[in-house]
Amino acid sequence: MIASQDERRDLTVRGGRVVLASEIIAADVVIRNGRVAALAEPGVPVAQEELVVDASDRYVLPGGVDVHTHVALPFGDVATRDDFASASRAAALGGTTTFLEFAIPLEGESCVEAVRRRLSEAEGVTHVDYGFHGCITSVGDLDELGTQVEQLAELGVNTIKVFTAYRALVMLELGEVWAVMRAAAEAGLLVMVHAETESLVEGAGRDLVARGETQVRHQPLARPPRAELDAAVSVLRLASETRCSVYLVHVTLPEVADAIEQARHDGVDAHGESCPHYLLLDESCYSSDRAELFVCSPPIRRRAAAEGLWPRLGTALSGVHSDHCCFDIAQKTAHPGDLSRIPPGLPGIETRMPVMISEALHDAISLTDVVRLCAAEPARVFGLKGKGSLLPGYDADLVVVDPHAETEVAGGLHMETDFSPFDGWPLRGRIETVAARGRLVVRDGAWTDLAPRGRVLERDRLERHYPVGDVAGPGAVGRVAPW
Ligand code: URP
Ligand code: ZN
Ligand code: ZN
Repeated sequence: MIASQDERRDLTVRGGRVVLASEIIAADVVIRNGRVAALAEPGVPVAQEELVVDASDRYVLPGGVDVHTHVALPFGDVATRDDFASASRAAALGGTTTFLEFAIPLEGESCVEAVRRRLSEAEGVTHVDYGFHGCITSVGDLDELGTQVEQLAELGVNTIKVFTAYRALVMLELGEVWAVMRAAAEAGLLVMVHAETESLVEGAGRDLVARGETQVRHQPLARPPRAELDAAVSVLRLASETRCSVYLVHVTLPEVADAIEQARHDGVDAHGESCPHYLLLDESCYSSDRAELFVCSPPIRRRAAAEGLWPRLGTALSGVHSDHCCFDIAQKTAHPGDLSRIPPGLPGIETRMPVMISEALHDAISLTDVVRLCAAEPARVFGLKGKGSLLPGYDADLVVVDPHAETEVAGGLHMETDFSPFDGWPLRGRIETVAARGRLVVRDGAWTDLAPRGRVLERDRLERHYPVGDVAGPGAVGRVAPW
């Protein structure tokens, strides 16, 4: 009886191979009150009334943690199609049981007001656990900036996003980024950066216009690698000077990953992420008949860049996240031929885990790598207590995967769009069962239609990685301490 599972807290996932960040073990996962109570020897006795999920010949992974999503994002004169209900349902169906969203201020709103608004949008309708990143899109009075940052921390928000791109929408100048980093370092918050130097993007755009090269196939040139690398190097330098923890989102270039790694060696608490589309696709997508659908910032790069990201996963690039941005085909193709009017971003909250699991089952990486990149490290870096592992005491967010299934990304996804950049992509492995804090929200690949029970996750300030008044010296690799 599916309906009663919601109330039933006792669950055992039996006979599976449990994937931890460091190893895979044969164990039964015993769940009590929404948490993992034990990883038991296979065959642990269960009470008659207890619910049992048979995971024999299956892998059991912690639920995915996606720290980069844009649900209901307004962008210029359009907005992504989804809301917290539909996005969180799609997330769960794709094996993601925690996500962190951005609270981008609307015109006239402060970053704190934006977080409060986003909290109320998500409350009561979200099916998995979630939280927010504050976003600072303008800097005025510095005392007020410090107050806002402090208030974010008091709201349980330990991250601030800034953009060095998208002039007139959300962009900060470097001097403003520096001010945000100084305030964030003081309050113990991490600063996430969309790093592309807008003036270099604009310069490239002028050049393309002069040459009449403004079709979608020119998108890789419109936002060139130099813009990403230039911004990355600048903000890493600012992070070093301000002693601020920094996280570069959607890294597309091995050179940027190397700059992060170098910053770490120089004592900066620096992190980066990439996304499945940057790891697996290449710029030939912009010459296809669906080119508009792949427009995103930064663009999808050359095959060599994508290949160069893989060896950097797990070090400079500690996570793989979706950058989920749910525009549909009508929105992406409304202004054919006008690159500047295609809303950037790709849907992906539902496909991130299946695609990465599939890559692991094809031996591109290991399943323990998937756990580290898509759950454990993000939980650690972002201070998501109880998330990202199936060790006893953690939340019972889990995914049961049949490794033998061969399918493909196709229609029938649950995101509020009608395409995926991975349409037709062969998938090995199928997500069969998903539990969110011990509740079965997906069974045999199907939504079990439970009432939304997602909770907002408050996160503590980061530990001060840099003692006040001390200057991190070379070789003092700063890392977020395990909690
Ligand atoms: O193209 C993208 N990535 N759209 C979403 C907004 C952002 O820049 O992350
Ligand atoms: Zn971005
Ligand atoms: Zn994004």
